[in-house]
Amino acid sequence: MFADYDLQQNHVALRNGLPTEIRETLLESTRSQWLHHPRISGKAGFFMSIHRNLLDGAAQLKQALEQLLDTPDSEVTDRMKGINLLPFSEQLIGFAHHHHEIEDHAYFPQFARLYPQLNRGLALLDGDHKVLDAALEDTQKAIRNLGIIKPERDRMAALFKGAEALNSILDRHIWDEEEVIIPVLLKHG
Ligand SMILES: [Fe+2]
Ligand SMILES: [Fe+2]
Repeated sequence: MFADYDLQQNHVALRNGLPTEIRETLLESTRSQWLHHPRISGKAGFFMSIHRNLLDGAAQLKQALEQLLDTPDSEVTDRMKGINLLPFSEQLIGFAHHHHEIEDHAYFPQFARLYPQLNRGLALLDGDHKVLDAALEDTQKAIRNLGIIKPERDRMAALFKGAEALNSILDRHIWDEEEVIIPVLLKHG
């Protein structure tokens, strides 16, 4: 539990990077050198590829919703089916939840035991997961509703705005999370 999570310098939707006091606890490591590390093909590379898939999936979802906004009313329902919007979003959102659960219940506690100084950073990331999971739930509900209620422009526009916000917080979270966990995975993975 991160005590001051809602402050501007901490909240995933508001901050510009990891707060200084957390940055000071990170393991010595330079992002530009990660890809040349002898253990990059282990868990570090695996996590980075999952993150890439999540970011790509969220960007694809945003793009699909943007295209839907440009689709004439009479064709929206068919187009949603044509691009498999509901199954695609369900899969993406399920994948993201699953990834957060594994981090929260398996990896983060291990990292905290190995490096107690990372506790505050890991608690911040756990706070991000709660915000992300709520945003993912909202997106999923809104997409399900689009499928059963006749699509309305303002509902679709709100959904697109939500997908934009989701992309932005996912981007912030993943960048900051990698700063905390990739150096640990490179040492031990
Ligand atoms: Fe992650
Ligand atoms: Fe995460």
